Amino acid sequence: AACEPARFSVLITRRVPPKAVRILSTSPLCEVQQWDSDDPMPHAELLSRVPGLHALFCLLSDRIDEEVLDAAGPNLKVIGTLSVGYDHIAVEECKKRNIRLGYTPDVLTDATAELTVALLLATTRRLFEAAMEVKSGGWSTWKPLWMCGQGLPNSTVGIVGLGRIGCAVAERLKPFGVERFLYCGRQPKPEKADRLGAHFVPLPTLLAESDFVVLCCSLTPETREMFAEDAFRKMKNSAIFINTSRGAMVDQDALYSALQEGQIAAAGLDVTTPEPLPTDHPLLSLKNCVVLPHIGSATVATRTSMSILTAENILAGLQDQPMPAEVVL
Ligand code: NDP
Ligand code: DGY
Repeated sequence: AACEPARFSVLITRRVPPKAVRILSTSPLCEVQQWDSDDPMPHAELLSRVPGLHALFCLLSDRIDEEVLDAAGPNLKVIGTLSVGYDHIAVEECKKRNIRLGYTPDVLTDATAELTVALLLATTRRLFEAAMEVKSGGWSTWKPLWMCGQGLPNSTVGIVGLGRIGCAVAERLKPFGVERFLYCGRQPKPEKADRLGAHFVPLPTLLAESDFVVLCCSLTPETREMFAEDAFRKMKNSAIFINTSRGAMVDQDALYSALQEGQIAAAGLDVTTPEPLPTDHPLLSLKNCVVLPHIGSATVATRTSMSILTAENILAGLQDQPMPAEVVL
């Protein structure tokens, strides 16, 4: 690596809560430049701004691949991503180059779990479909058989990936009268599961027995397109599929067919491929599919905490100190 400069050069790739910018720009250690826009920095612009950089404050919509790391060169010491997911970053390449990676676990767990529950309730009780009927004049009278959903009492909820968010979702769903929680993952998590009364089962069992399948795991090569035709075929016809993790875990063509053919009852998605989902995408033509624009962590307090944590991760990394939240590479 190059020798230590008088000031570290830091790039923030988007307009972010101002507190985070202040933390970095008022530090005597940092020389900060920012792409001060709500729109993403074009990839070519990113490539042109990274050479010589010491720290990169990035977002999940920035693709930090080998090309970006090569362009940045040997000065780059630390990347801080404003997210808990880091599938947009070439982590093996970071490891090879001794680049440290900070992320934002925990501070967004409550907000994301809350949104997951909101999406699940909105989907099972058909809230968006019903609200649309009010606007379009489809509400003729109170009808006993109209707009009925399933609801949560006495249901079985299957959580795929009982991590921080998966646990927080189960905790929030419990008071709604869920009868049974199932979960799957790489290995059982007895401590967390006992507290929730959740049972570890293989994925095919979870798919076959759950009324709600909630995808809460991280995107890795193993989980990419984990939900394809075969998975939807194993689910109940009355099942609801919820995804607030990453769109790439789902084969969207297979999901569309499963929803259209009644293989499953409904889906609620906060994440898609690509993002944004084109407005003419077939999934958006379905009444039984609710799509939100990746707003899991979108509360003012959460986004502020995430950006402060990202700035603190970067400051710690630049000074070779332990980061408040570092990905072990
Ligand atoms: P955690 O690391 O706490 O949880 C991820 C879980 O995924 C772990 O339990 C992990 O199990 C599990 N997992 C990994 N591989 C597999 C697999 N092959 N099969 C089943 N489970 C697997 O992360 P968080 O709960 O904090 O966040 C989870 C994800 O949610 C993030 O990676 C991000 O993509 C997404 N997210 C989306 C948001 C939104 O705005 N919609 C907001 C925040 C997060 P193990 O412990 O065994 O590795
Ligand atoms: C994350 O943190 O990974 C989310 O997708 C956005 O908060």
